[in-house]
Amino acid sequence: MQQSNSTSLPGAEDKPAFVNRMFARIAPTYDLMNKLMTGGQDRRWRRELLDYCHLPPHGRLLDVGTGTGDIAYEGMRRFPSVQAFGADFTYEMMAAGVGKLPGRDLPFMQADTFKLPFADNTFDAVVSGFLVRNVVDRVAAFREQARVTKPGGRVVCLEITPPSNTILGPLFQLYFFAVVPLLGTLVSGDAGAYKYLPQSTVNFPSPQELKLHMEKANLHHVFFAERMLGTVAIHVGTK
Ligand SMILES: C[S@@+](CC[C@H](N)C(=O)[O-])C[C@H]1O[C@@H](n2cnc3c(N)ncnc32)[C@H](O)[C@@H]1O
Repeated sequence: MQQSNSTSLPGAEDKPAFVNRMFARIAPTYDLMNKLMTGGQDRRWRRELLDYCHLPPHGRLLDVGTGTGDIAYEGMRRFPSVQAFGADFTYEMMAAGVGKLPGRDLPFMQADTFKLPFADNTFDAVVSGFLVRNVVDRVAAFREQARVTKPGGRVVCLEITPPSNTILGPLFQLYFFAVVPLLGTLVSGDAGAYKYLPQSTVNFPSPQELKLHMEKANLHHVFFAERMLGTVAIHVGTK
């Protein structure tokens, strides 16, 4: 088992516990770090992800790996009739997100993305933001998200991707491997967590490969949009 402050990636078996402990530690400063790391662009990507959901009035939205709930809250703000739910296996992240929308509670539930506590065909859209980098079996994760999505509903995924543009590669590496860990250590006091972040992008599939993972999970008409000079992608699939 890895030490909690380890900077190397855990093995597949240890990864869920490692990820869970790491997010529990950084939960109090997670939102601030996101804003600093992305220059405030994260909110724009979450909004765009929600546009791709094509939610009907009074529809149901599930945000998996919801963390502090930002996608689900944004959904509640933009589409007031929609019923949103947030699921995550890290209690501390959800606790840090309670009460962000005055007058409306977001129902949070503690759940593993591989075993969502919902019946088949429950949601009009199932979304995730920066989750799939943290899981070992991405196809299984998408399959479980598709299971709880209604036929014709959408599974939408927002994630960091290795930039395809070769000129940008070294800049991305410098930012992710030098600037982010330094900023993360200053803000959260946790050097390990923000060294894990860049490492978790190293072997992450390209947008084209991630599209194939969604197709293997029986999602159809899969497409993706790249943002932030190809360092972020939004993938969309239909059940
Ligand atoms: C980088 S945070 C993203 C939070 C939020 N979606 C956002 O957009 O800011 C990743 C979240 O995924 C959660 N997570 C990782 N693996 C998970 C799993 N197997 N089941 C449920 N949640 C998981 C972590 O606890 C963490 O809160």
